[in-house]
Amino acid sequence: MSQNNNNEDLEKFTRELQEQIMNQLRQQYSPAVIERWQNPRNFKRLDKPDGYAKVKGSCGDTMEMFLKIKNDQITECGFFTDGCGTTIACGSMATELAEGKTFTEALALVSADEILKRLGGLPEADVHCAQLAAETMRRALADYLFQKKHPWKKMYRQPGEE
Ligand code: FES
Repeated sequence: MSQNNNNEDLEKFTRELQEQIMNQLRQQYSPAVIERWQNPRNFKRLDKPDGYAKVKGSCGDTMEMFLKIKNDQITECGFFTDGCGTTIACGSMATELAEGKTFTEALALVSADEILKRLGGLPEADVHCAQLAAETMRRALADYLFQKKHPWKKMYRQPGEE
């Protein structure tokens, strides 16, 4: 068999495998989850955040949340996680919900239930991913409030440290 035939067979096999995996994912996850899994919003670390938190979830995965806030309005969000695709989708949704909101609006809006609702639900085994994203956002907002009350402490803070 020629080298060309081998390459074509391998490509065909890879395409079919990808298609199979995508079909399985579509049975378990909503289009909103799969879309963010592949193309997460705000998947970035921000320099000198006004609010920051790093939280380890019940599964051992961690999430970091970075907030830039001006006059109590969230102007930019970023998140980072070493977790699975579902965690990425939940982190993305948490930042999408918070961005552009006031501190108080974001605190009221970003919850595990709201993330799940906007993502069109998740299998039971993945619900903790939404809880991790909501908890990390909540703590980053609390950190903002704390830094506001103790501005001098910001100078000694290193995002990324536990
Ligand atoms: S599997 Fe650990 S947070 Fe998603």
